[in-house]
Amino acid sequence: MKNALQSSHDALGKLIERFPTGNYIDATLGKGRDSYFILSHPSFAGKLFAFDIQDQALQLAQQKLKDFPSDSFQLFNNGHEHFNQILSLSTLPKIHGAIFNLGYLPGANHQITTKALTTLQALNQMAQRLVSKGKIFIVVYSGHAEGAIEKEELLEELRKWSQDQFSISILDFLNQKNHPPLLITIEKK
Ligand SMILES: C[S@@+](CC[C@H](N)C(=O)[O-])C[C@H]1O[C@@H](n2cnc3c(N)ncnc32)[C@H](O)[C@@H]1O
Repeated sequence: MKNALQSSHDALGKLIERFPTGNYIDATLGKGRDSYFILSHPSFAGKLFAFDIQDQALQLAQQKLKDFPSDSFQLFNNGHEHFNQILSLSTLPKIHGAIFNLGYLPGANHQITTKALTTLQALNQMAQRLVSKGKIFIVVYSGHAEGAIEKEELLEELRKWSQDQFSISILDFLNQKNHPPLLITIEKK
């Protein structure tokens, strides 16, 4: 069975095939693996916008993404909760997909981690710009203290989102040890 991260990439790949010239957001750039996946997808001919609050992440990702055309992506050293300020509605009216890989940057300071409040702010902003059938993928790690809180708060809030506007599913692994990551998918109807 594929894990949450592999499943998110499978589904993201299918989304890129559906919307090859679309606008995509990597909300947690980190070392750039999700951005690399998007930019290297054979069907991708769109634009990628990626966010991270840590200089270290930006530097690692810049190095990883250096061979892709510079006009196909933009990296922002800023929190995803500032999405609306950084990419105004007139600059970027629609998005087709977004991916959040929550938690902390592996090998860096574990105290610098995503948090429910700002993750939800970003999700609310991005969801407003999703095209019909556009999707947001969220890989959630609950094996650390902040991650466990973030998971509970996200699930509680997302349960309240209108089912007339969004379908929201969860891929969880019921009998695995050590809190394996889970995948939440939000699809705009
Ligand atoms: C698990 S890592 C992401 C891994 C990344 N997707 C990759 O492929 O390498 C989580 C990242 O989220 C970043 N982060 C934490 N809070 C953030 C925020 N408010 N906005 C954007 N990035 C944030 C952290 O700095 C960290 O690099």
